[in-house]
Amino acid sequence: MLELDKINTYYGDTHVLWDLSLKVEQGTTVAILGRNGMGKTTTIRSIMGLPAPTSGVVRFRGEVISDLPPFRIARKGIGLVPQGRIVFPSLTVKENLLVAARGNEGEDAWTLGRVYDLFPILKEREGLHADLLSGGEQQMLAVARALMLNPDLLLMDEPSEGLAPMVIKQIGQVICQLKGKLTVFLAEQNLNMALTVADGIYIISKGAVVWEGPADELRHNEDVKRKWLGV
Ligand SMILES: Nc1ncnc2c1ncn2[C@@H]1O[C@H](COP(=O)(O)OP(=O)(O)OP(=O)(O)O)[C@@H](O)[C@H]1O
Ligand SMILES: [Mg+2]
Repeated sequence: MLELDKINTYYGDTHVLWDLSLKVEQGTTVAILGRNGMGKTTTIRSIMGLPAPTSGVVRFRGEVISDLPPFRIARKGIGLVPQGRIVFPSLTVKENLLVAARGNEGEDAWTLGRVYDLFPILKEREGLHADLLSGGEQQMLAVARALMLNPDLLLMDEPSEGLAPMVIKQIGQVICQLKGKLTVFLAEQNLNMALTVADGIYIISKGAVVWEGPADELRHNEDVKRKWLGV
């Protein structure tokens, strides 16, 4: 579904990603883990072409997309939940969802009704301005908005950031419910969140992959957790 093949990404003169390669199989959930500033957001941004890698390629369903402008990449069917759960603060919950809606006709398509089934709290809050929601509710709205685009691949950048443990658990349960419906690639600093939702895990440090394997393998690998995640 998604393949990053030895990508190198720069901000100006700053070389941030170094020959980074990873793969996400269709229908699976894969997490990229790493400490602060290691390049998780830059990896997600590189997939969307913001900025595009200067060398190496990104493939989506086997097709090279790293030479396309960001809006074309998005239209291929890639949804993004950016870091910091960005929503339109002065629109209501329902309006936030409706302005994002696209391709909602198919039988399995995400519709207002279906995202409300996934996040019942959003139905309760549908008339409220988004800036009145709690952090957890805003994160749910940000995920729901991305689903309204009916993507085949959903990118999520630190969905657990700044949320209380109980809310993180709720968001994790929803990500698990998405399994099989679409492919998910998420960046996380929260090891437990990643272990709960992901099938496969990549750990990066200073813009390079330092460990990769199944979540079950990382769960028991205290050395790797200590060395790269400080757990
Ligand atoms: N716009 C930018 N211009 C220059 N350098 C940047 C820019 N954005 C990020 N960086 C640098 O690139 C490196 C990787 O940053 P990135 O945001 O990808 O890390 P991250 O793993 O997402 O961190 P966090 O967990 O804090 O979100 C950091 O050293 C950061 O300072
Ligand atoms: Mg980040």
